Amino acid sequence: MKTVSVCFVCLGNICRSPTAEGVMRHFVHEAQLTDRILIDSAGTGDWHIGEAPDERAQQAARERGYDIGTLRGRQVTSADFARFDLLVAMDERNIAALRQLCPPALRDRIRLLMEFVPEMDNRWNGAREVVDPYFGDSEGFAQVLDQCEAACSGLVAVLRAKLGA
Ligand code: 4NP
Repeated sequence: MKTVSVCFVCLGNICRSPTAEGVMRHFVHEAQLTDRILIDSAGTGDWHIGEAPDERAQQAARERGYDIGTLRGRQVTSADFARFDLLVAMDERNIAALRQLCPPALRDRIRLLMEFVPEMDNRWNGAREVVDPYFGDSEGFAQVLDQCEAACSGLVAVLRAKLGA
């Protein structure tokens, strides 16, 4: 059976990418595609390896019914480019870090999360990035969730089509 694998990537792997992973897991479960779409997340930095997601990210996720408390931080490695069909980054800085690490032949696997927001959803005026909420307030974490929900619903649709499921 054909599968597709996705790794969400941010800087610390404690705020944005675990949020995207939690939202995506939920949507993929709802779509009954758990065994077809494989999901992970990682950070380009090494500060939070082994840590649970930031408490503010866990709280914001919990308020919308996503449990991300069991996820643990890890750092992206060059092996991830062969393991995953898509490496979905939160911002341009993550893209630059991934491109540095990626074998040139696999660079088209690197994408921005916001590319997957359906065209008719213009809440962010075409914004291409999920802004780092780490040094901000709870509103930032709520916006990360809004963006992850919009983009992951689009991403599930794209992957469903790719799988012919
Ligand atoms: P994330 O947020 O990249 O969304 O996980 C951050 C978490 C930690 C740091 C920066 C961003 N940090 O500088 O430790």
